Amino acid sequence: MAQDPPVSDLTDDQAALELQRLALVLSQANQAYHRDDSPSIDDASYDQLKRRNAQIEQRFPHLKRSDSPSDQVGAKPKEGFGKIRHRQPMLSLANAFEVQEVEDFVARLKKFLNLAPQSHMRMTAEPKIDGLSLSIRYEKGQLIHAVTRGDGETGEEVTANALTIADIPKTLSGAPDVLEVRGEVYMTHADFAALNATQEQAGQKPFSNPRNAAAGSLRQLDAQVTKARPLLFFAYAWGDLSEPLAPSQSEAVARLQALGFSTNPLFITCDTPEELVSHYGAVELARSDLGYDIDGMVYKVDDLALQARLGFRATTPRWAIAHKFPAELAWTELLGIDIQVGRTGALSPVARLNPVTVGGVVVSNATLHNEDYIAGRDSKGDSIRGGKDIRVGDWVQIYRAGDVIPKIADVDLSRRPVDSAPFDFAEKLKQEGIEGKRAPGDAVWRYCGDEPLADLAIEALKHFVSRQAFDIEGLGAKQIEQFYHRGWIRTPVDIFTLKSRFGPGQLQQLCNLDGWGEKSAQKLFDGIDAKRSIELHRLIFALGIRHVGEGAAKLLANRFVTWEALSEAMQSAAPGSAAAAALVEIEGVGEVMAQSVVEPFQDPERFAALQLLLAQLQVSPAPQIDSSTSPVAGKTVVFTGTLTQMTRAEAKARAETLGAKVSGSVSAKTDILVAGAGAGSKAKKATQLGIETLDEEGWIALIEGL
Ligand code: IVH
Repeated sequence: MAQDPPVSDLTDDQAALELQRLALVLSQANQAYHRDDSPSIDDASYDQLKRRNAQIEQRFPHLKRSDSPSDQVGAKPKEGFGKIRHRQPMLSLANAFEVQEVEDFVARLKKFLNLAPQSHMRMTAEPKIDGLSLSIRYEKGQLIHAVTRGDGETGEEVTANALTIADIPKTLSGAPDVLEVRGEVYMTHADFAALNATQEQAGQKPFSNPRNAAAGSLRQLDAQVTKARPLLFFAYAWGDLSEPLAPSQSEAVARLQALGFSTNPLFITCDTPEELVSHYGAVELARSDLGYDIDGMVYKVDDLALQARLGFRATTPRWAIAHKFPAELAWTELLGIDIQVGRTGALSPVARLNPVTVGGVVVSNATLHNEDYIAGRDSKGDSIRGGKDIRVGDWVQIYRAGDVIPKIADVDLSRRPVDSAPFDFAEKLKQEGIEGKRAPGDAVWRYCGDEPLADLAIEALKHFVSRQAFDIEGLGAKQIEQFYHRGWIRTPVDIFTLKSRFGPGQLQQLCNLDGWGEKSAQKLFDGIDAKRSIELHRLIFALGIRHVGEGAAKLLANRFVTWEALSEAMQSAAPGSAAAAALVEIEGVGEVMAQSVVEPFQDPERFAALQLLLAQLQVSPAPQIDSSTSPVAGKTVVFTGTLTQMTRAEAKARAETLGAKVSGSVSAKTDILVAGAGAGSKAKKATQLGIETLDEEGWIALIEGL
């Protein structure tokens, strides 16, 4: 192999010949390995041959063979899946449960786009498939890779597995040069039942529902296993594209179908919310006969130019919504009520249930929210469940909507034990020895003891290592519990000092633990080291600040760009200060969230802990749109007066997408003032300060084509 000429020196003929030879050698090696269980060459040589094959294919894509070894399943099972970053993030959808929410959604879109409320805006409606999403990349008509959703930004490469799915074309003709097709991998009810029967015969655990079966089947390290599983795929969206597929969602989906993908037959276009809701009703009636699971309908704006104007929030598109079907229900007995200490100190009651199957999933816990909820009141004191309270020993009706945590819908008073008593929250806390208080106006009891409670710390650590946060390989919820109870990890910074604190004795102890050995310990330390450099939004989310979810963490990261800038601003954010105003100006950040973001930076103890943690980390700044692609990147823009071609909300969202900061008031820091009709004092002030002022036309000309 050492004598192989560099790929760049090969002529077309030589390359074709070598690809032929490699196809033969690798196919023999595959057979020897898989079929005969007696490898003909060692792993390193196998990998080297495959790499050489891929290099030649990359340089001579037109010579790639239809039996190319790159596309062959039955490659040796890998130790784990490779990770691939999505060029376009894979987003989730906002949910609607009621018809009113659907009407509000459509009305909101029209308002954003400045369309008349009575006007027709064409929408698409299609089932929401209950499977797992997959992104498949094609270049010049060849399937290049297939990647799971993962955390939306980075997913696992499951190309070999995807190639075994009959519904997924391996080559396309007439497609854009670059096309990422997105859709849902799923399993039919019939195939699910058959698979479970086989599993049970083989003495293996059955899957709890078709979705889990599909996920378990796609994420097999050995693609041969996936091949034996009956997976299907519906295409409904796309990611990276070298050219638009079509001018509208419906035509784009039709084009995907023409390219050979399965698309859902219940896809239609509608002109009014009434039509959407009527299709929802029709599909709901047909639901049990479809033969596969769906959990609602998805509505999308049809016109892709309007979709582009509407854009995205942090994790969801503005132009689409999922209208969920009502939750499934089941009755069971409430065995007890426990108090859980959340990572922000909230004391949450949890129902312990006699396990019951709801919508294919066994449920043994349900959330009870807070004291009032148990008593049958909402936060305003109005009655819920007809005012029925919840008592230990009651028969309760459980419901689940999609992935939502199970809740209690109703109580059967006719089956209530005669000796039951109302649940006394304060008394329960006393029994458990938990110090808590409930402030006036707060629905929630909060922990107020001095001792850091183990549960609290463990919850915070679990959150810290969760998938959207640090996502440390080898350090999941189970390991956090183990390490916490041994005193090895008590706070986030302990994770990063673990290795240096570990003497040979502790290492030995770790290796002796169930499921641990030298190899896995090394893997853990490598996993931790890999996350010493972390993206700003993940760090912010990991801190577990009250009210700051994944979306808000991204908003904050985008606004402040670096940890230093965020930290400095939060330390100086006195109420009414510029820093506090800057926080609230971010669309999606309100006063309440702003207050809790400031807290860890202004509380001396929490701030000291932050400093210790940060000393172990390298925080990469939020990626910024740079000024070579956007003339407004990094600039502070103020809109004033009446805009005629777009609403203020659209103008603001668009400016932010292009990397600008939008502020409500003019100051020396303002870079551009966009003055619509009737602009008054702000325009005057901008002129005085010598700030560049544009009219609406000027602004549109500036950002046109971006
Ligand atoms: S559109 C940018 N359409 O639902 C929006 N999603 O809750 C892209 N899903 O992650 C999604 N059926 O896995 C879309 N017909 C459908 C869908 C669908 C199922 C899944 C998808 C997505 C999740 C969001």
